[in-house]
Parts: sequence; structure tokens; C-alpha cells
Amino acid sequence: MDLLKEIKRLKEEKGALIVAHNYQLPEVQDIADFVGDSLELSRKVSEMENKMVVFCGVKFMAETAKVLSPEKKILLPRPDAICPMAEMISAEELRDFKKRYPKAKVVAYVNTNADVKAEADVCCTSANAVKVVKNIEGEEIIFVPDRNLALWSARFVNGKKIIPWEGFCYLHRRINSEEVRKAKEIHPDAVVLAHPECDPSVLDLADAVLSTSQMLRYARESEAKKFIICTEMGLLHRLKKENPSKEFLVPRALMCRNMKLTKLEDVYHSLLYERYEIELPQEIISRSRRALERMLELV
Ligand code: 13P
Ligand code: SF4
Repeated sequence: MDLLKEIKRLKEEKGALIVAHNYQLPEVQDIADFVGDSLELSRKVSEMENKMVVFCGVKFMAETAKVLSPEKKILLPRPDAICPMAEMISAEELRDFKKRYPKAKVVAYVNTNADVKAEADVCCTSANAVKVVKNIEGEEIIFVPDRNLALWSARFVNGKKIIPWEGFCYLHRRINSEEVRKAKEIHPDAVVLAHPECDPSVLDLADAVLSTSQMLRYARESEAKKFIICTEMGLLHRLKKENPSKEFLVPRALMCRNMKLTKLEDVYHSLLYERYEIELPQEIISRSRRALERMLELV
């Protein structure tokens, strides 16, 4: 069977949209109608008319799309594609944490489950965390679950106390500053781009700290010819495709095993059997939607 042909046929027959995160396998990115970072993907899903969406990414991203487009059938080809960082805080843990800081506002990184977003005042993504933290009213902010993103955002606000949850991305945590320093020494002409989930010591060495799609934009618009990319390797596919004359290096070859679970066969089965549909209680949809909409207002 020609999988690519069958995916295309089913997609057209069912009027489905396929979206893929920048970390997905190259062949999955190549069959998608749209590839982007977590913010762009959920926006795209709500803008498009398609009633069925195959979301090639991890569960929190597909849930975000469902919350913003509850009338659509959102399918996650691999139900086991979760983000370990999103699992580091539960709604109950956040409720207890809030009791310790009753005056604090809660900012939830989009890498959280929908019931955690429902407990937050506002969401943010890696692309807009700094703006959200700057613009939200209040002097105390609980930031969950990523400590590194919380500390990065805290660098840009004076007079606000940021209280981070101790969550982390196991993959970005493995990028170490010594390796980045060495790569810079060997390639002094290279521009260092880092994802804010990296350790603060890595972010100190970066020329720019950006979301995955912001890195793509930066690389396209920059005059530089060489880049050291501190994030998951899946991004190299688009970086190289969109900038054939530029060179992209990584301090360490790292793959997110959850992002790489989705194979072409899974996309095909997802379309064929219309699985695995994201289902959320109505109450969670409306409460988490408020936090996501507040984010869009603030930025
Ligand atoms: P982006 O929103 O920057 O694509 O990041 C998502 C993510 O999971 C990073 O690890
Ligand atoms: Fe989650 Fe890290 Fe994978 Fe992103 S790279 S999906 S934060 S585990």
C-alpha cells in the first residue's frame, strides 16, 4: 500500500486537516498541511473550517486545540504521546499550591493538561511567556510547571515575585552549558539560538531565546550563515529545508521520544478509524478556554 497516497485520499474524503509540531518526524511534517509551534498550531486549527483535525504532536497540544475549537473532532494519532513536563503537575497539586499564595495570579505554560489550565488565570507559550508575565496584573505570580521558563520570564519583570513550580523538560535539561561553550569556541561565527526550557546557564550563552517557530523566523531573516541550535533535533528538518545555504549545528543530538512516536502508519490509522479523539468535560473546556483567551488578550 502507498501510505502517502492513502493518507492523501482519506484526508480529502473526510475533509480533514493535518497539523504537525516542529519536532515531528520529517516524513510526518512533510504530509502535514501546516507545521508550527504550539501557539501557531492551535490558532491554525481554530481558523480553518475543517471539522476533523489530525494533530501530530503531544496530548497537551491536541487538548489545547480542542479547547479552542470544541465543535471539531480533534484526533491524536498516538494516545501515548504525552509530554512528561505536563504530567509534572496535577490540578489538585496546583489547587494546594494556590492555597499557600492566596494573592498570587497563576500563569500556566501551555505544556499542561487541560484540567491544570482550568485552575490558571492565564496561559502562556514559549513564544509569549515574557509578555504574559509582564502584562498580567498583580505582584505575585505562580508559574507552572517549567521552572526554567519561569526564571527566564522573571528576568524581564521588576517588582513582581515569580513563584516557580519545580517542573522541567527532561530533554532541554540535557543540553549543558559546557558543550554550548565549546561549540561557540569551535564556531565563533555561529549565532546561538536556545529554547527557554533550557537551563539558565545555557540561556546566558544564547544570542536569542526563542520558541521553535521564532527560531525558524530568526534563521530566515538573519544575515548569519551558521547557527548553534539548542532544542530538539526535529527542528533541523525545517531549518535546513528553508535555509539550504545556511549551516545548523547542535551542541548535543537530542530527540523527544514522545514527539517521535507518531509514524505515518499512525496518521493513516488515525484518519481511517477516526482515532484517538480528544474528549474533555464541558466544564474543563470552558474554564481552560478562559485562561487561553486571557493569554491572547494580554499579548
Ligand atoms: P514550542 O511552543 O516552542 O514549539 O515548544 C513546545 C515544546 O514542547 C518545547 O519543548
Ligand atoms: Fe515535552 Fe520536552 Fe518533549 Fe517538549 S521536548 S514535548 S517539553 S518532553
